[in-house]
Amino acid sequence: MSYITFALAKGRLAEITMDMLKDMGISCKEMEEKTRKLIFVNEELKYKFFLAKASDVPTYVEYGAADVGIVGKDTLLEENRNLYEVLDLNIGRCKFAVAGYSNVREKLETGNNLRVATKYPNIAKEYFYNKKHRNIEIVKLHGSVELAPIVGLSDVIVDIVETGSTLKANGLEVLADICPISARMVVNRVSMKLKNEGISYIIEGLNKAVSQK
Ligand code: PRP
Repeated sequence: MSYITFALAKGRLAEITMDMLKDMGISCKEMEEKTRKLIFVNEELKYKFFLAKASDVPTYVEYGAADVGIVGKDTLLEENRNLYEVLDLNIGRCKFAVAGYSNVREKLETGNNLRVATKYPNIAKEYFYNKKHRNIEIVKLHGSVELAPIVGLSDVIVDIVETGSTLKANGLEVLADICPISARMVVNRVSMKLKNEGISYIIEGLNKAVSQK
């Protein structure tokens, strides 16, 4: 019997997912021991697990290096990989939004030379080019994106808003909602066919856990 390999986005999401899997009888002792190991195996049940940077999870799954991935919809939208999204885990709910100072509302709607700072250039392009039919300039950043309008690097940002407290603490606000986000289970297209029984078992189990929450 072949293994089913999971790629989990590092952090709280991986911890919650492992707890959910444990409840359905899929545990991994090796993973609970704090070591520098990168891959963890449950030999008895034939599962492998590894933790990866969120933005790498869709890549591992598309190439079949992992059969199953657990990662945020934000990452899936940005990476746009060829895979099946099979389940909304309803964890880590937040949204993508356009944010900035309230006085840029008019420029956001109709002004020229709008500059948008973001960690998610593909999501920003999809929203402004394809949905809003706006020609904008994108400035790619790697973190603390809220700084950009404050220091005059951009007019607005496209970023994740969860509680809204980062925006509020910096005098910024949501100017437009883009889409909701939450954690998703994704599956490699070939694995879905070749390991259908094992993968269906995982989908059903996690689905049950999600609906009981
Ligand atoms: C995310 C996001 C916002 C913040 C939103 O940043 O980019 O900055 O969380 O959360 P809130 O609405 O609850 O305030 P993260 O903590 O990942 O840091 P980074 O932007 O520096 O990567």
